[in-house]
Amino acid sequence: MDSINVNNLVIIYSLGNTEMKISNIQLQQLEKDGFLILPGIFSAQEVETIKARLPSLFAEKSEANIIERNSGVVRTSMGLHLRDDLFADLVRHPRLIEPAEQILNEPFYIQQVKVNVKAAFSGEIWQWHTDFATHNNEDGVPQPKAINLHILLDDVNEFNGPLFFVPGSHKAGAHSATLDEQTTSYPLWVTDIERVRDVITRSSIVSAKGKPGTVLIFHDTLIHGSPNNMSPWDRTIFSLIVNPVSNAYTAPTRPDHKHHYDTTPIQPVSDDCLRRYMNQSVVHSL
Ligand code: SIN
Ligand code: MN
Repeated sequence: MDSINVNNLVIIYSLGNTEMKISNIQLQQLEKDGFLILPGIFSAQEVETIKARLPSLFAEKSEANIIERNSGVVRTSMGLHLRDDLFADLVRHPRLIEPAEQILNEPFYIQQVKVNVKAAFSGEIWQWHTDFATHNNEDGVPQPKAINLHILLDDVNEFNGPLFFVPGSHKAGAHSATLDEQTTSYPLWVTDIERVRDVITRSSIVSAKGKPGTVLIFHDTLIHGSPNNMSPWDRTIFSLIVNPVSNAYTAPTRPDHKHHYDTTPIQPVSDDCLRRYMNQSVVHSL
C-alpha cells in the first residue's frame, strides 16, 4: 500500500481505491478548537467546474434561492444536490465524506446543502451564531453532533467577508440564542451578544481565509459569523451539513431545502466524480 501526504491529509492508495483521511493530530485539533482549515483539498479546475453550475441555479425562480434584502442578489442557494447532478455527486465526495466518517463514527445523512454567495460590494453579514441553535430550536435536533463542511469557491481574504471562528467555543455546549428575523433576509438563531463577548474575551477570533479549494470543517456549537463584503471580490462558499441518523430532527417544520428529511445514510462516490462535468456545457439533468 502506498500513501502520500497532501497538506497533512493522507491519501492512501490501496487496490486501485483512494482514501482521504485526516490525521490524528487534525482530529485532536478539531476537538480542541472546534474547526479545521484544510488548504488545497480541491483543485482550481474542480472549483471552476463547481462554480460553472451556479449562474443557472441562481437564475431559477425557486424558494430555495434566498435573496439579499437590500441588493436583490442571491444570498444563499439551497437544496443544490436535488437541483443539479454535479452537486448530487459533490455531497458524496470522499474528500468531504471520509473525514466526516472519521469524525462521526456512525451513519449520517445530508441535512443541508447550499452555496452562500456574499457578493462583491453587497453581500450582507451572518451574525454571530452556532448552527446548533437553529438545528435544535427549528428542527428539534436533539444533540449538537452535526458537522459543517465548507469548500471555499473564491479566494477568501480579510476584505470579502471570511468566516470568523471563536476557537474552543464549541466546548461549552449550547449557547443562549435568540431568533433574529430583522437583520438579514435569512432568519437566524443568533448567539446572545453578552455570551459572544464573554467567550471571545476568554478566547480569540480566527479568520477562515484561504485559496479556492480550501475545506473548512466545524462543530455544531462553534460560535461563528462573517462580516459584510464591501470589497470588489465575490466570496462564494459551498456548505454541506451532515448529521448522524441517530440524532435526526424530531420537528420537521421547515421546508425540505432548509433541513432535508431523507435520512438515508450517505455513501461516498469515487474521488474523480467531478471529472465528467469538466468542459461540459451546463445541462440540468435532475
Ligand atoms: C457564511 O457564509 O459566512 C456563514 C456560513 C455559516 O454560517 O455556516
Ligand atoms: Mn452557520
